[in-house]
Amino acid sequence: MELSQVKEKQIFKEKRSYRKKYYIETYGCQMNVADSELIEAMLENEGYIVSNDPWKSDVIFINTCSIREKAEEKIHSQLGRWDLIKKQKPEILIGVLGCMAQNLKQDLLENRPFVDIVLGPDSYRNLPTLLKRKLKDRNSIVDTKLSRFEVYEGLFPNRRNGINAWISIMRGCDKFCTFCIVPFTRGRERSRSLDSILFEAKQAIKDGFREITLLGQNVNSYNYNQYKFHNLLERVAKIPGVDRIRYTSPHPQDITDDLLQVMSQYDNISNYIHLPLQSGNNRILKRMHRSYTQNDFLVLVEKIRENLPGVGISTDIIVGFPGETEEEFLDTIYVMEKVKFDSAFTFKYSPRLGTKAYEYDDQISENIKKCRLEKIIKLQKEHSLIRNSKLLGTIQTILVEKESKMSKKQWAGRTDSNKWVIFDKGNVNVNDLVKVDIKDAKGISLRGELINEVKAA
Ligand code: SAH
Ligand code: SF4
Ligand code: F3S
Repeated sequence: MELSQVKEKQIFKEKRSYRKKYYIETYGCQMNVADSELIEAMLENEGYIVSNDPWKSDVIFINTCSIREKAEEKIHSQLGRWDLIKKQKPEILIGVLGCMAQNLKQDLLENRPFVDIVLGPDSYRNLPTLLKRKLKDRNSIVDTKLSRFEVYEGLFPNRRNGINAWISIMRGCDKFCTFCIVPFTRGRERSRSLDSILFEAKQAIKDGFREITLLGQNVNSYNYNQYKFHNLLERVAKIPGVDRIRYTSPHPQDITDDLLQVMSQYDNISNYIHLPLQSGNNRILKRMHRSYTQNDFLVLVEKIRENLPGVGISTDIIVGFPGETEEEFLDTIYVMEKVKFDSAFTFKYSPRLGTKAYEYDDQISENIKKCRLEKIIKLQKEHSLIRNSKLLGTIQTILVEKESKMSKKQWAGRTDSNKWVIFDKGNVNVNDLVKVDIKDAKGISLRGELINEVKAA
């Protein structure tokens, strides 16, 4: 290395050591992941650099989730550890962001005096200003106001992984399911402009991303001027270079015929729908304030499968919602048997203070919830195997996403219908779209053999 280069490197290192470092830890759903990317971009604009060690950082953030008690417990124990950092490094700034900040600001301030900044999901735009203010003023700063308008227009995220770009298209929820905290932590539904979403998607493709995931608490309630979700999806599908589009989380109520039509027309829209059932019983569904009946749901699944052959369907199920009798629980089993979902996220009902269901006086015991959960987990395993084995002997198009956790010699990627497949690396790379022959479907992931590369990245 030449002397001048050595000097340059030294200067760079010194400059880097003057710059403040941030650390951010993200919990909860993809919306939080996308929000953290937005926050990272704002901090880096201000000259901060990322660090992977909270002990070596100047400011550390935790982006939180309130969806279930367990999620909040995780945050509390992490904050307990951060209290130790603060004790040894009093100059460090600690920020609590996201859904829990919104919901628990009082508790955080009273019981966690070492927290410097508490910001709800609609207040991130102020972060750089607040950080500057905080350097002068040691009082805690709290901003958890929810906005009817904030969609972070004009702010773009700092993406790292290089395969999938999360693009948030709408925020908030107006559905008020009686078990759910989200409408309170995230506020009212609002959609971003079509143009700014398309701009961001095109930019992601220019930056080398092959897959785009559109995000929203109720992603298919997207509504901007005359544009509905299917209009937006079609426009994104037409962007040259987009190999795969996913979206999450949709609500069954807004799976329209137009949406199914657009999905069937474009090969680059993932043939996959997440369709949260929650419960299979009509009384419970009504009490949950879900807007469909068991029959509506079954008819919808049939329609989806008719329109989208080979579609992957996953779901969310809650057991032990207040008042759920054994018979009513069996209706959930009935729907699972009828549909045979490809996969399911299954939860015990967790009472959330401030929601309607929290007030119900017929809460179900932990034991019963546990027992019901075990039953549906076991059943879902059987169904996933049945669904996966339908792919045996077929050739699937896989986007290579990462190295397999099991072996350095294998890749992991997903099928069009959102199933993980593991296969020997061959001469392909991450971000390539490849053809794989499915040979085994016994485990959680499928196993396959690489056939050829479809398109170079
Ligand atoms: N908007 C999405 C869901 C977002 S929350 C939808 O309506 O489908 C993700 C999942 O968490 C929900 O589908 C639900 O199954 C689960 N969930 C939400 N609140 C819960 C609670 N209080 N207890 C247990 N599970 C809950
Ligand atoms: Fe929660 Fe229901 Fe809104 Fe989904 S639709 S975020 S479950 S209130
Ligand atoms: Fe959790 Fe908030 Fe997402 S409560 S699931 S981080 S919207």
